[in-house]
Amino acid sequence: MKSCIPQYLLLGFALAFGLGGARAQDPPKVSIKSVKARPTRTLDGPTMFHEYCAACHGDQAQGNGPAAEALKKAPADLTQIARKNGGKFPKTQVMRVIEGADVVAAHGSRPMPVWGNIFRSLENQSVATLRVNMLADYIETLQAK
Ligand code: HEC
Repeated sequence: MKSCIPQYLLLGFALAFGLGGARAQDPPKVSIKSVKARPTRTLDGPTMFHEYCAACHGDQAQGNGPAAEALKKAPADLTQIARKNGGKFPKTQVMRVIEGADVVAAHGSRPMPVWGNIFRSLENQSVATLRVNMLADYIETLQAK
């Protein structure tokens, strides 16, 4: 502990000296840095699925992602949706589930995040709807025959 204090002081001194020296020699320059534009968050269905959904539903959407164990309610196997619905993929209904449109706050929370709110907070309603649409389309391609 004893050696700590002198070291701090020395560092502080060197820093002040360095700044003072620089200021005296060079007039402040305005430098223009080129900053790369950050890539927009993708709207690609498979990429969004892996980013937002696979932790619970699994990479293959079969309900066995790494976070599944921690949930009270098992994440659904998303490859069985059409099968459970007489062979037809109920896209509108799936979109409603993803959005959380039918979640009634007063009835408590569901284990799955309300993606409609999350996506709306990223951009706006129309992009949020587009995301949900793209996700539902992707899930449709994963349906077990
Ligand atoms: C924190 C874990 C978790 C994440 C992340 C998650 N889900 Fe879910 N999901 C669940 C659980 C649990 C259920 C099942 C049951 C329920 O809520 O009634 C479910 C159910 C579903 C269902 C209904 C399936 C059916 O058979 O009707 C769909 C569709 C779905 N999720 C899509 C998604 C999509 C798309 C994403 C990513 C944008 C996602 N989920 C992210 C946990 C999660």
